[in-house]
Amino acid sequence: MKLQVIIGSTRPGRQSDKLARWVSTHAADIEGVEVELVDLVDYPLALFDEAISPQYNPNRSPSAAAKKWLDKLSEADAYVLVTPEYNRSTSGVLKNALDYVDFQMKDKPVGIVAHGSSGGGQAVGHLRAIVTGVLAVTIPQAVYFAHRVSEVVSEKGEITEELAQKPGGPKSALDGMLASLKWYSDALQSARD
Ligand SMILES: Cc1cc2nc3c(=O)[nH]c(=O)nc-3n(C[C@H](O)[C@H](O)[C@H](O)COP(=O)(O)O)c2cc1C
Repeated sequence: MKLQVIIGSTRPGRQSDKLARWVSTHAADIEGVEVELVDLVDYPLALFDEAISPQYNPNRSPSAAAKKWLDKLSEADAYVLVTPEYNRSTSGVLKNALDYVDFQMKDKPVGIVAHGSSGGGQAVGHLRAIVTGVLAVTIPQAVYFAHRVSEVVSEKGEITEELAQKPGGPKSALDGMLASLKWYSDALQSARD
């Protein structure tokens, strides 16, 4: 499984990148998983303004910046979207990036890792609906990281030992979500083949 872990925040001082590193490190430990951390900072996109909806535009000619983003997404079999919760939803920058997608994520599984004061629950709900719009498959499990990332996750993406060991804590949620993502990725890969 070629997995892309996408950092859904681009602001200076962001916390989502640390969480994404935590996810990437654990995903890389799973046999048969090749992980790439994808940072939206490296894919600066204008606010989406194409005249025709991407999935309905057979003659689409995306901008160079959009093409770079779409080509990157095409390389993966599965995705983890690491999202903050901004005003009870996912971030604008992640939603905008997804608005560019036509069929690059079609029939591929998406896991969501969210953070915020209530674990980013409303970001997860909105993001699940959004990924169905780009024809991706949202898996049932998600990680609702309700702890303050700045206090419990290092720059390198290591969570505190106490949290890592906590029964029913975020580490076990992540392990369960990644195992499920692999299962869906294998199943959907066979179906696509
Ligand atoms: C514009 C904005 C809106 C926010 N709205 C929410 C919110 O609705 N719910 C919540 O739990 N946290 C909210 N927060 C707190 C963020 O979840 C927190 O700052 C988090 O670190 C943001 O992710 P980032 O650091 O990767 O950008 C908001 C933060 C910002 C900047």
